[in-house]
Amino acid sequence: MSVPIVRTLAGLRSTVAGWRREGATIAVVPTMGALHEGHLSLVRTALGRADRVIVTLFVNPKQFNSAADLAAYPRTEDDDAAKLAPLGAHMLYVPDAEQIYPQGFATTVSVTGVSDGLCGAFRPGHFDGVSTVVAKLFLQTGADMAFFGEKDFQQLQVVRRMACDLDLSVEIVACPTVREADGLALSSRNVRLSPSERVIAPRLADVLVATARRLANHAPVTATLDEAKAAILAAGFDSVEYLELRAADDLAPLGGLDRPARLLVAAWLGDTRLIDNLEVINSSQEQITFAA
Ligand code: PAF
Repeated sequence: MSVPIVRTLAGLRSTVAGWRREGATIAVVPTMGALHEGHLSLVRTALGRADRVIVTLFVNPKQFNSAADLAAYPRTEDDDAAKLAPLGAHMLYVPDAEQIYPQGFATTVSVTGVSDGLCGAFRPGHFDGVSTVVAKLFLQTGADMAFFGEKDFQQLQVVRRMACDLDLSVEIVACPTVREADGLALSSRNVRLSPSERVIAPRLADVLVATARRLANHAPVTATLDEAKAAILAAGFDSVEYLELRAADDLAPLGGLDRPARLLVAAWLGDTRLIDNLEVINSSQEQITFAA
């Protein structure tokens, strides 16, 4: 069985209206394609929660910081559709730019606070692009639920804030990061790693786990994060954009574990920028280990 592909807003709305007449609940899984097991796990979770699941595939130009990065982004629609078919997703919505940003489009959805710092500091305008397209996708699909991976933890919190502030009646469901057996978080960008970089890449997750354990055991935050950055560079990464301890909900910078916390990192390995994050809870070592 293949997944029905819809390319127009009119086609999307007509199918959704039919589903609504049947009383079906609807979930959306927003993606930019190049689907990997992380995306597929979101789709499986969504299928377990909603009667109909729409996967969107739109490589959103507004969230890229450089034309080169946008051009290099993998476009694999046929493979993506083939991966979705056996899961039973009900629609792959593949709008062209005109369906999302028609002639004269002049609106930006901009979320402050949670989008400051971390990736927001290094990718100016990125979260405005994400918030704008995700708001459009929520409104176009009219979904009851939307599924996002914790891998992009800051994005998840930006989307949560946006949906809450704009009174969008969509439940944001967070799903755990899916990892390779060696701990590397799945990402569409991993295909860019050379064989030697692929050997180094999982060390990022190793350092996160070790650092989360130390922080959980009350190691001093600043010194521990400095040592962790040095360990990432010593592992073979070229630079560390950030490694920070933040509050898990509003991403406020933390000097200790007085609130539920998240350790977030971005680092460059050759031409590839990798991000990852981990929950840090001082009461339970179980919270800071990966299932291999
Ligand atoms: O995480 C992504 O793939 C994108 O940022 C998203 C949420 C699909 C918006 O373009």
